[in-house]
Amino acid sequence: MSGVEFNRRLEDIPVYPAAESYGGDDGLIKLASNETPWGPPPAVIGVIQGQLESLNRYPDPAKSLLRRRISERYDVPIAKVAVGNGSCEILLAAADALLEPGAEIVYAWPSFSMYPHLAAQAGARAVTVPLDADGVHDLEAMAREVNASTRLVLICNPNNPTATALAIEEIDAFMADLPRHVAVILDEAYVEFNLMQDPGESIDLLARHSNLVVLRTFSKIYGLCGLRAGYAIGSEAFRLAVDRVRQPFSVNALAQAAAAEAIRNVDEVERRVEHTVIERVHVESELAERGLDTTESQANFSWVSLGDRDEEAVVAGLADRGVLVRAGAALGEEGRLRVTYGTREQNNRFLAALDELL
Ligand SMILES: Cc1ncc(COP(=O)(O)O)c(C=O)c1O
Repeated sequence: MSGVEFNRRLEDIPVYPAAESYGGDDGLIKLASNETPWGPPPAVIGVIQGQLESLNRYPDPAKSLLRRRISERYDVPIAKVAVGNGSCEILLAAADALLEPGAEIVYAWPSFSMYPHLAAQAGARAVTVPLDADGVHDLEAMAREVNASTRLVLICNPNNPTATALAIEEIDAFMADLPRHVAVILDEAYVEFNLMQDPGESIDLLARHSNLVVLRTFSKIYGLCGLRAGYAIGSEAFRLAVDRVRQPFSVNALAQAAAAEAIRNVDEVERRVEHTVIERVHVESELAERGLDTTESQANFSWVSLGDRDEEAVVAGLADRGVLVRAGAALGEEGRLRVTYGTREQNNRFLAALDELL
């Protein structure tokens, strides 16, 4: 395509730092993308199989069944439920719908690697606010950055990559003081793993704050990241706006059906949370025994301080031993690694590989 002139904004859009060596199933232990180690529950697989023969039809553009199930699960009007091809699609659509040159978006840093794309794709200004010393959002500092140009604030709770969480009361207080013209997306991709909060509590905040959007995903606890499905609950105006900027068939038929079934598997979610929390305690205490500090995790991963060790060498050494984790440098802070919890066996393989390197 040499000679073709692309949109100049392209130069500002970062390349998403996806984990390497993720394609194929080659016996690697994949602890680099905050997935869960379990596949979809059997009932979900059954529903997916049931859809295969009607793939000659377009998916439901209104995503009615999935939106209805989400609305029933959280007792919110269906008109306020948006679903997307992964929650990332909703983030990007929100940027399209809310931002423009001259507008500002505020978010903490380090946080989810997709966030820098939002301002860049819209030609807006990104205002990043450092996390506090414990890797937690500094909401007071974020509030100070809000002005008449601010259109969007992102709060990632629990935060990726630091795994830390804010108390729901702090978010409520932040919202109460915020001008109503500013939309807030509360990104709760890991909410189920957060023992500080019941998943219904942030939904309750919606009744008090009309500018709040709760963003969630089927990629993590539900084990469906390969299909891509996420959802947002906010105002009807927010749903209509993000629907306006996307193609009508963005959520494929298998994803819609699978997610609609997955959200009914409440017992399975509880079982998975329990396993994850057991592994969290195991990995964190083993890391502590090795003198490696972590931030306080409320997610399915740990943010590990490597002190003065060579981060690149540790991450590469783990990869040489078949264990994939993420280097802190790729996620916004050097001298760290982010490791997702797998099964007990996978976690012990990670710890054993680490022992060989330290
Ligand atoms: C904080 C956060 N939000 C959103 C997502 C994206 O999820 P999805 O697969 O639904 O696009 C992730 C994925 O890692 C994440 O960490």
